[in-house]
Amino acid sequence: MVSSEAAPYAKTGGLADVVGALPPALRSFGDEVTVLVPRYGSIDLKGARRVYDSLPIYLGPARYDTAVYQAAEGSPFYLLDCPRLYDRKGFYGESGMDYPDNHIRFAVFARAALAAARVLFRTEIFHCHDWQTGPLPAYLRTMFSTDPTFLGAKTLFTIHNLGYQGLFPRSVLPEVALDPSVYRPPGGMEFFGKVSYIKGGIEFADALSTVSPTYAREIQTPEYGFGLDGALRARSEVLTGILNGVDYREWSPDVDPLIPAQFSASDLGGKQLCKEHLVREFGLPPEAMARPLIGIVSRFTPQKGADLIAEVAGQLVAEDLYVVALGTGDPEYEELFLSMAAEHPGRIAVRLGFDNGLAHRIEAGADIYLMPSRYEPCGLNQIYSLRYGTVPVVRATGGLDDTIEEETGFKFAEYSGPALLGAVRAAVEAYTNQEAWRDMMRRGMQKDFSWKASAAAYSALYRRLLGRA
Ligand code: ADP
Ligand code: GLC
Repeated sequence: MVSSEAAPYAKTGGLADVVGALPPALRSFGDEVTVLVPRYGSIDLKGARRVYDSLPIYLGPARYDTAVYQAAEGSPFYLLDCPRLYDRKGFYGESGMDYPDNHIRFAVFARAALAAARVLFRTEIFHCHDWQTGPLPAYLRTMFSTDPTFLGAKTLFTIHNLGYQGLFPRSVLPEVALDPSVYRPPGGMEFFGKVSYIKGGIEFADALSTVSPTYAREIQTPEYGFGLDGALRARSEVLTGILNGVDYREWSPDVDPLIPAQFSASDLGGKQLCKEHLVREFGLPPEAMARPLIGIVSRFTPQKGADLIAEVAGQLVAEDLYVVALGTGDPEYEELFLSMAAEHPGRIAVRLGFDNGLAHRIEAGADIYLMPSRYEPCGLNQIYSLRYGTVPVVRATGGLDDTIEEETGFKFAEYSGPALLGAVRAAVEAYTNQEAWRDMMRRGMQKDFSWKASAAAYSALYRRLLGRA
């Protein structure tokens, strides 16, 4: 696997959770997986093993010296070290600005993954994730198409988010030593006059997948296709949707060491303590204990529906409920959440930042989890919420639609403030019947979204790709 994120080494969102958990789950199907991730500045090499000293990557005349570390003895995770490119504070940029050399950073990453396969692990399938790895199938099918090392090697490209595409000016092509033929439309990396890294994956990979069945259908429509729906329709025969699993060793209230009190479907007592703790932590008044507490953990981006929440914030708090939100992202959306909190002090409380412990405490302590996404390839937080007895209110799109049912949560269809408000009101109304509410919590807690089924689906796809179905 080739990925720009993998938990616990590098995480901004769900991609990291998936790439962190899927490889170990695949092992039980007999699949041997190694994962390559860039060694960013935040990744400590203490405990890592240097397994390859000098792996020079040439992009035309430019030379990039890389080295490979294994994250720990026996670990499937490997880190690509190239201080000049990755030893920086951010993964993709800093203070809201993308790094100007991202095209080079991820071209070198793709080429280094191919080079590592040559010297370290003989590879049957390159499983690439998101735009950062899109150039890999393009290099493989052009520059290395006759290279005996890769004879018979297949590529799977998994789309976790079509909204991020890696678009660069056409002039970068020679800089990253991509064959000019990869640019040519149709079926190339050209996208409205630019070079699209995600199209490298979409056009050149042997198989495509995305992270829920509904999103696999949605991205083939103009409404959700971000301009790529035509390209995806053209490849619909090799495109499947495999729902993400979740790692219940990390996200389950009966074993979670990061929450103030543990609890389970048969003993909900601890949940009350978690709520008390959360109410205090966010400085909300004690009266909040008797009313629904809504939790939000999110990247603050246009994808996640913050504008809808802002649109109806006043009507929400008029329902006598409370909101706690944790997130970080676009300054514009951070500002939006801060102003909601300022307008409704003691009702809406917001923390800006990335804080895994607090994410767990919100999942555990809130009554309702709100996820009104504009689009959602899969979404993990609503699945975590089910396990923590935190009833999800979601927009019926992508993976949200696939994971939340009438018996476990509340859904709304139209992307609008009133539709969101209607679903929250239904939840608040349901909350007043505490016995029925607890039944709903328990139904959610008993759902099983562990990796087993999803890993089995990936494993079967790998076998099909290799003609061993
Ligand atoms: P996405 O990948 O689109 O961000 P997901 O729901 O798939 O959405 O996954 C988000 C993951 O990132 C979850 O594990 C969530 O807890 C975590 N996360 C998001 N924002 C934060 C934050 N500000 N602090 C801590 N964890 C966060
Ligand atoms: C993306 C999507 C999210 C999905 C995650 C992991 O970041 O936005 O819906 O759960 O990837 O696949």
